[in-house]
Amino acid sequence: MPGSEPIGGPAPVDGVLPASARRRLGASHFGVYVHVPFCATRCGYCDFNTYTAAELGTGGSTAAYVQAALAEVRLARRVLEDARLPVSTVFFGGGTPTLLPVPDLARLLRAIDAEFGLEPDAEVTVEANPESVDPAYLAALRDAGFTRLSVGMQSARPHVLAGLDRRHTPGRPEQCVRWARDAGFGQVSLDLIYGGPGESIADWRASLDAAIGVGPDHVSAYALVVEDGTRLAARVRRGELAAPQDDDLADKYLLADERLTGAGLGWYEVSNWSRPGAQCRHNLGYWRSADWWGIGPGAHSHVGGVRWWNVKHPRSYAARLSEGDSPAQGRELLTVEDERIEQILLRLRLTTGVALAALAEVGRKAAAGAAADGLLDATAYAGGQAVLTRRGRLLADAVVRDLVD
Ligand SMILES: C[S@@+](CC[C@H](N)C(=O)[O-])C[C@H]1O[C@@H](n2cnc3c(N)ncnc32)[C@H](O)[C@@H]1O
Ligand code: SF4
Repeated sequence: MPGSEPIGGPAPVDGVLPASARRRLGASHFGVYVHVPFCATRCGYCDFNTYTAAELGTGGSTAAYVQAALAEVRLARRVLEDARLPVSTVFFGGGTPTLLPVPDLARLLRAIDAEFGLEPDAEVTVEANPESVDPAYLAALRDAGFTRLSVGMQSARPHVLAGLDRRHTPGRPEQCVRWARDAGFGQVSLDLIYGGPGESIADWRASLDAAIGVGPDHVSAYALVVEDGTRLAARVRRGELAAPQDDDLADKYLLADERLTGAGLGWYEVSNWSRPGAQCRHNLGYWRSADWWGIGPGAHSHVGGVRWWNVKHPRSYAARLSEGDSPAQGRELLTVEDERIEQILLRLRLTTGVALAALAEVGRKAAAGAAADGLLDATAYAGGQAVLTRRGRLLADAVVRDLVD
């Protein structure tokens, strides 16, 4: 959950969708995201919508959150009327969803199933901080119907974790993967961050090797972003820590791609690699502009060409729902042109790329230039598709900007 919200209009108190959106219900994959806004401590780099117990103070209990989130699941069903919308993916993200007791997560999942129906092979992901789970917890999650675990590893090197102000014990994420396997999880993912303060290329190689060594099905590797308002940003500003450098980030991206690909994890989105068939189906839904409802404080939703976002603080969120109102703070109706541009922005980041036919004339000219410069794959280009090469992925943001012109 990024810190700033898009600019949009007000959202109706009852959450009702315009007829144009209701007509499109069921036309695409439907996913549910559940945002759990709690963390034991805040990592220095993170500006997600999440709160420690001290930040929450009184009146923001996890129990109140669970009641409110259950109320939002019921509200979602009312708003979506009787449209048949079986849920093919659920993603509990955060924050740290695994700070909640398993019975609470299980109640939320059962409520989604009761209201919408989970497809028999639904992908049900939960994000975990390595310190927040143990073998018994993971076994209980698996029994409750969770199928995929995504663990925040970030780095295997103690001084890099310290520079990120990250409090977990080195080695614990790898242990979590082994415990998850023992508990019967068939899909396990690790999150890594590169470009942290004091991280050498050898440190990054060691982190990649530690991640690969434990045999994950999926790895997300993100370049460190120095977000405004974080402790990291303050320390960089004071000159205590060095900001990530573009050349170093590029070298580390290339190393990640080489190592992960060599280990049988192919890229399928610029920052995501998986073994064949183990892509995150929920995130693919976002990148393909499918429909999803985001439950929880600050969660974003996208249904039938309408996008909205909830109030951010858990207290205001719970207060709205306890009055029977929608927790949506603002919303926008996407025009056909907005949707076309959004599809290009998101799809170009995938291995499947974008059809050249979807581009405007200026964009098609830019694509020809990018193909000639080796930023788009020549074979795919000849077949009418814009797909980033490895070098193109390093410059993904710039290439995408040119293509949507
Ligand atoms: C919700 S957290 C994952 C679960 C759990 N909260 C944890 O951190 O262990 C999502 C991921 O976003 C990534 N992330 C957050 N802030 C970031 C930043 N400023 N730069 C790069 N990656 C970031 C981290 O890799 C983190 O694991
Ligand atoms: S544990 Fe995860 S969500 Fe919480 S502050 Fe750290 S990176 Fe952000």
